[in-house]
Amino acid sequence: MQATTGYDVAAARAALPALRDVTYLNVGTEGIMAEPVLREHLRAVAWHETHGHYGQAAVLELLEASRARLARLLDVAPDELALTTNATDGVNLVAFGHAWAPGDEVLLSDQEHPAVTFPFFNLQRQGRAQVRIFRIDPDATRTLANFRGALTDRTRMAVFSHVSCETGIRLPAAELCAAAGARGVLTLVDGAQSVGQFPVHPRAIGADFLTGNGHKWLCGPKGTGFLYVASRHLPDLLPPYVGAGSLTNAALAARRYDGLDGIELAFEPSARRYEYGTRNLGRFAALGGAIDYLEGFGWEAIWRHQAACAATLKERLAELPGATVHTPSGWDASCGLVTASFRDRAGAPLDGIALSRWLWRQGIIQRRVTEPNGIRLSCAYFTDESDIDRLIATLREHLDSGASR
Ligand SMILES: Cc1ncc(COP(=O)(O)O)c(C=O)c1O
Repeated sequence: MQATTGYDVAAARAALPALRDVTYLNVGTEGIMAEPVLREHLRAVAWHETHGHYGQAAVLELLEASRARLARLLDVAPDELALTTNATDGVNLVAFGHAWAPGDEVLLSDQEHPAVTFPFFNLQRQGRAQVRIFRIDPDATRTLANFRGALTDRTRMAVFSHVSCETGIRLPAAELCAAAGARGVLTLVDGAQSVGQFPVHPRAIGADFLTGNGHKWLCGPKGTGFLYVASRHLPDLLPPYVGAGSLTNAALAARRYDGLDGIELAFEPSARRYEYGTRNLGRFAALGGAIDYLEGFGWEAIWRHQAACAATLKERLAELPGATVHTPSGWDASCGLVTASFRDRAGAPLDGIALSRWLWRQGIIQRRVTEPNGIRLSCAYFTDESDIDRLIATLREHLDSGASR
């Protein structure tokens, strides 16, 4: 593997207890939290839980610091960020907050996670918008052409993953948003697999909305997500759920009303309008800490490291008998996610689910994919050559023995 120094990968690994037990190649599903971040996380949750309302102000301060920290990472204003439970929340907020008109269509890619497809299928079931699909191609130019060809006069919104969770293909997000914008089509980018993998700046991308989470590539707390809403859209993306915190009408909050005649609902002006009710605020406290922790290694260094790991992994997978790597080789069209499928000696496809389960039993944590029928591996800031060696040796053993029987 190319030298990727810039930070001490061994020291990074030492702070991750899971690595004493398993080879962890699945940050794309759930990140693993480093011990210093965990301590901060538990401290905040414990403080709020043990001090209740008295402890709330301090935790809220930490939450706002996390919002500001995330805003700096994404190069947006803190007021454009709603803190949610996960990336799926953000998709639902957009799907059910947008004012659809009869006949409207929404364009999704053919490689979307259920976090995207299910909310829009639900929307279609309610008769509010018609779902159309465009095809992702490993070649960005073809993806763009497919996208352009699928836009119709009725398309009101386009929704696509920045990085496909199936193939690890990085989509040309800025070009797709520009093509959509030129036709007056809104864009929701699913950043669940991109934020933390390479620079993700929604404004530079030209996205109207971008959803993401803290628990994957940022290795932050589970139950943390966000939705970026470009400030110009805050007035029109109405919150589908509202409650304490969403409205600023003093009279309504103080129950000084006698019916609603003549009272305009005044939504909180910032993206905090999508947050409401009592929440476990402590879990957001360490989101900023998780970002700071990774930044301590240096983002550029992390991305260089992940790029080198992914390149090595793809090369070594491709050398295995019967292997097909489905993720493009160029970094601009890919990232730390790598998907591969396999055939046995007789040329029959190996089932991704069975292979993934078998690898789990060998202590190699990754995820199966269904289309293509294979496995997906995540190269994170802590991945090292020993992880790749172990994976390749284990796969080779499988391909040489059981898989060829
Ligand atoms: C591309 C993509 N979008 C969305 C999600 C769902 O994210 P969350 O669990 O934060 O809602 C995932 C999770 O694997 C994903 O890979």
